[in-house]
Amino acid sequence: MPEMDIQKTIQTLEREFRSDLDALSDSRTLDAVRVKYLGRKGKISGLFKAMGELSPDNKRLAGQYLNALKEQIQSALDEKTAVKGSAAAEVDTLDITLPGNRPALGHYHPLSVVLRQITDCFKGMGFAIAQGPDVEREYYNFEALNIPKGHPARDMQDTYFVSGDIVLRTHTSPVQIHVMEKQKPPVRIIAPGRCYRRDTPDSTHSPVFHQVEGLCVDEGISFADLKGVIQTFAKRMLGSDMKIRFRPSFFPFTEPSAEYDFSCVMCRGKGCRICKGTGWVEISGAGMVNPSVFQFVDYDSEKYTGFAFGMGVERIAMLLYEVHDIRLFYENDIRFLRQF
Ligand code: FA5
Repeated sequence: MPEMDIQKTIQTLEREFRSDLDALSDSRTLDAVRVKYLGRKGKISGLFKAMGELSPDNKRLAGQYLNALKEQIQSALDEKTAVKGSAAAEVDTLDITLPGNRPALGHYHPLSVVLRQITDCFKGMGFAIAQGPDVEREYYNFEALNIPKGHPARDMQDTYFVSGDIVLRTHTSPVQIHVMEKQKPPVRIIAPGRCYRRDTPDSTHSPVFHQVEGLCVDEGISFADLKGVIQTFAKRMLGSDMKIRFRPSFFPFTEPSAEYDFSCVMCRGKGCRICKGTGWVEISGAGMVNPSVFQFVDYDSEKYTGFAFGMGVERIAMLLYEVHDIRLFYENDIRFLRQF
């Protein structure tokens, strides 16, 4: 650098910087200007390097000028950054042609999804939907279902008593009585809903769970109709390779009574934790409506017969989604729920 040019060079650089500063439009060009003047290979450090050729006196003078200009540039850029800062960044990142951010949407709980699938399945077979209260009179939960006070069958369902003769229903079967009190045959309904039992929670039991009750009453209804409906349901719901089996059982409100199981999809019948090594999962109690129940609702048991069932919704959801523990449905762990 020739000795006499120091001041001129610095003045020219200052002018260039001022015009760059005036032309600044956004934060990206601001950064480019900073790099141009203050960067490692920028104009200021270029001039510092060129100072090596100067005489000691001129080097000191040039050093003073250059340091002053560097500080000036530094503070001018800092000031611009502070003023433009957020506004410039916003202008920079806002692309108005992009679609807006979608608000995060929730989705149905897996049990609601399964309940809906079950109801759709039965609707397809001509069943209507009925509902009854969760808080029931003992009469509907027990007496009218042929379970009188002191009947040993009451021990089967440890009950939450609310007060006096008011209970949290232990099953959806009381809806059968509500429906038959209001409607004469033919009846073909399902009643989905919550049930409550003082069961100790384990991998297949929860104190709050869901059942879907089914009731079909007409002339000439037989056990074969029950089997046909359940078989159709199992295959539609869980796949055509689903096997069902009926086992003799006892319920005071059905005669004969049965329980039916679905083959375990988890282990394909080999035996696992879910099916407790049996290859089958208990789904439901069922049977032909006991004529003594018809007496409570004034149905002619000589003319009409019917079948009923009450299936556990969680057990079906466990099979469908291969969930190994019923408690997962009730823990509200978002990591679990997100998977559905
Ligand atoms: C009953 O509740 C009868 N009301 C079913 C019935 C209806 C029989 C109509 C005949 C005619 P059970 O107690 O077995 O039966 O329960 C039926 C189903 O509910 C069981 O097979 C099971 O799938 C489910 N279940 C029962 N208790 C629980 C529980 N604590 N947690 C989850 N599911 C349960």
